[in-house]
Amino acid sequence: MTKIAERKRDHLDLCATSDVNFKNKTTLLEQVQLVHRALPELSMEDVDLEVQFCGKALSAPLWMSAITGGTDDAVAFNREMAALAQKKGLGFCLGSIKPLLRDPSRRPDYSVRDVAPTTLVMANIGGTELVRSGHAPVVEAVRSVEADGLTVHLNPAMELIQPGGDTDFKGVLRALGELVSADPDLPIVVKETGCGLSYLDGAALKSVGITKVEVGGAGGTSWVGVETLRAQGRQKTLGELFWDWGIPTAPATDWLATQGFEVVAAGGIRTGLDVAAALALGARLAGVAAPLVRHHREGGQKSVEELIDFILHGLRVTMLLCGVKRPGELGGVPRIIGSDLARWLATGPSAS
Ligand SMILES: Cc1cc2nc3c(=O)[nH]c(=O)nc-3n(C[C@H](O)[C@H](O)[C@H](O)COP(=O)(O)O)c2cc1C
Repeated sequence: MTKIAERKRDHLDLCATSDVNFKNKTTLLEQVQLVHRALPELSMEDVDLEVQFCGKALSAPLWMSAITGGTDDAVAFNREMAALAQKKGLGFCLGSIKPLLRDPSRRPDYSVRDVAPTTLVMANIGGTELVRSGHAPVVEAVRSVEADGLTVHLNPAMELIQPGGDTDFKGVLRALGELVSADPDLPIVVKETGCGLSYLDGAALKSVGITKVEVGGAGGTSWVGVETLRAQGRQKTLGELFWDWGIPTAPATDWLATQGFEVVAAGGIRTGLDVAAALALGARLAGVAAPLVRHHREGGQKSVEELIDFILHGLRVTMLLCGVKRPGELGGVPRIIGSDLARWLATGPSAS
């Protein structure tokens, strides 16, 4: 087994079986209280969750965030998740195509189109890998797996704790700009994986033509935490120190939406109430990752489907209780913002 394959197997195992959540930090989505309507004058049938994203219609504002790819374990998982995304009308993100860039014969491992013919499918690559390989092979790989677009992950905190991880994060912004210029029609979503995107990151991304982000904020899976469990000695001690590092999902969502990005709120999305709060802060949709792995381990595709049904039903209930029919209307619902979230929100524009 290659080093990459070993790491990916560790990631799936740790996310399925260990406590890798943030310890003392939450998403702060719980500090968005939407005001209840006792007279909604709606029935549940009136609530319609459909949204558009990356040029495709989704039945609900939810996608499966990037998890895995390019290893034997990953193939079956991705195919089951993609088929479920097709059944439910959700988006689906493949994990990193780095193994495919190294070995083009792995292309069939990323192939999900036969089970997800009309689903929004996104490929994935790391920002530093994009710098190393250049945009041309990445775009070619995205096309070769018939993905609709690409998510590019930024994860400097995780890399700094990961044994043998990257330590040089220069040139990523320029590489993103080159990617946008090379193929302006390719939907690109720049994402964090659990430390969030700041207001300044938003301004930088905007300057190179990025229009879509997945904020991947703090409060769900801690990727510093995952790598801490894989690290040894001083690196492990450093990981313990930075386990809770990052911007919670709620302020990151608000900041980037305020800047005009199409936002996927991710990092700690666990319930329909979380999705509703994120949409109220301006997200177009929400993304979920680690719970899919845990439910899949426990009860296969059926258990993941139950989780998705639970999240979407919770969203419908919230929308009815707020008196709105469409996800886009949640942004206009009166809300009470808790004091911790208000403090984060106050630092956004003023830090630019
Ligand atoms: C097992 C696993 C592997 C992941 N691998 C990737 C990856 O290859 N690329 C990526 O951009 N994000 C990856 N992620 C990060 C997720 O897409 C997401 O940003 C993060 O886990 C926060 O969401 P959560 O709190 O719902 O887990 C992975 C997540 C999990 C659980």
